[in-house]
Amino acid sequence: MSESISDAAAHGTDSPARSVSLARGLSTKLLVLTVLFVMIAEVLIFVPSIANFKLRWLEERLGTAAAVSVVLVEEDSQSLPRALQDQVLMAIGAKAIAVRNDGESRLLVVAEMPPTVDEHIDLAQTGPISATVGALETLFLGGDRMIRVFGKVGESDTEFELVIPDRRLREAMLVYSRNVALLSLVISLFTATLVYAAIDRIMIRPIRTMTRSMLAFARAPSDPRRIIEPEDRSDEIGVAERELADMQRQLQNTLGEQKHLADLGLAVSKINHDMRNILASAQLLSDRLSGVRDPSVQAVAPKLLRALDRAASYSEGVLAYGRTQEAPPSRRSVRLKQLVDEVEDLLGVDAVPGIEFVNAVDAGFEVDADSEQLFRVLTNLSRNAIQAMAGDDSAAVVRRLTISAERTGSVSSILVADTGPGLPQKARENLFAAFRGSARSGGTGLGLAIAHELVRAHGGSLDLLESRGGRTVFRVTIPDQPVRLDEARGGMRRPA
Ligand SMILES: Nc1ncnc2c1ncn2[C@@H]1O[C@H](COP(=O)(O)OP(=O)(O)OP(=O)(O)O)[C@@H](O)[C@H]1O
Ligand SMILES: [Mg+2]
Repeated sequence: MSESISDAAAHGTDSPARSVSLARGLSTKLLVLTVLFVMIAEVLIFVPSIANFKLRWLEERLGTAAAVSVVLVEEDSQSLPRALQDQVLMAIGAKAIAVRNDGESRLLVVAEMPPTVDEHIDLAQTGPISATVGALETLFLGGDRMIRVFGKVGESDTEFELVIPDRRLREAMLVYSRNVALLSLVISLFTATLVYAAIDRIMIRPIRTMTRSMLAFARAPSDPRRIIEPEDRSDEIGVAERELADMQRQLQNTLGEQKHLADLGLAVSKINHDMRNILASAQLLSDRLSGVRDPSVQAVAPKLLRALDRAASYSEGVLAYGRTQEAPPSRRSVRLKQLVDEVEDLLGVDAVPGIEFVNAVDAGFEVDADSEQLFRVLTNLSRNAIQAMAGDDSAAVVRRLTISAERTGSVSSILVADTGPGLPQKARENLFAAFRGSARSGGTGLGLAIAHELVRAHGGSLDLLESRGGRTVFRVTIPDQPVRLDEARGGMRRPA
């Protein structure tokens, strides 16, 4: 990470890395989730272990009872004094002890009030599910229930039996549960901290770095120091960092190009501005020509004036273009044949020896278009054709520019065809792209781009139909303006 980025982030007030509150941050979510999951895992471990705890506790009591019983079996226990029996039972915490040998059961000691038993547990036969259910019952419902537990102790064949209240068992189970809960909490916090530290280092920090870089870059996209420096990692984060760096670099290049074009546009506008002034003086001078009585001057002067007028209005147009887009076409019915004649006049085809200009448009042909804009389109196309053909030196080669037109329904097509050498590869690849298509020394590469834009503003299209040595054809297609049905109906009703 370059210094500038960290600086920018440090000074940033609206950095998302900061605006995300701690409680909503990824780290907190991660911490809480880890604690939760570890606790769930602990509960899954706790349930079988509490069942096991209950059985071991009862087994221990049964073992103690067995130890006592071994002594009592030898005696005639029934003859034991009441006080002694009570003492034995109290020491174990039981209500009755019995021994079963070869199917014969003998009650060794019993409390004065023989108890009623709520739960019977055969230590040898208890499966894991019944042990779990029993343990949970003791934990949640127990406290004043009586349990009868029986089974063999150690290696001996003798089966012992014990009737014991579950109060102390439940107390022990509650203490055990509390300890397990506390331990689980400690373990889960410990695990969560480790997981958090690891993930924070591996993921969250790089994500924050990327976010900061995006922000810093957004503030100054042209500063190459603000492009993120990807770490040398092969995981997803590494890929994301490299992609981000690529994207920032590309964006920077594009911005550079755009700036270049904008600068160029500005320069063109400035030149145009001054050129407009020069044209204005030229207009003034040629105005005087109209006063000269010489017939040859009289023939040329109006044409010269018109040409200067047009040039001045183009300059205006370019200046306007610098500020906004091309003005929307103001469409009228235009006599195309006349317009093409004007194009011929402007281009002064006669001045280029050996080039023939054929105006093949029918006298009555009308096209629904902005005459100034259509004039510019045709001038650009014709000028290109003439420039291309002027390059042919051989006198024998036919050099003819033909403009013709036809109408299909409501669509007018104007064809500009020449017998020149065809478009060079570069011009064909960048057809209609401003500044890129020029393959001619001294060309700016704007002519076709402007023509294309103007035709599209009419809702039409400009296409290169054919381009090979000997025949190049551009087609301008302009549909008539659509007539809105409600307006048309209104217009029809009014006269009636
Ligand atoms: N009729 C044509 N025959 C041969 N090449 C053509 C023809 N029309 C256009 N071109 C080629 O296409 C290129 C682009 O034309 P475009 O009018 O856009 O730019 P330009 O003529 O180079 O410059 P300018 O902006 O001054 O018109 C030309 O440089 C030329 O090489
Ligand atoms: Mg051109």
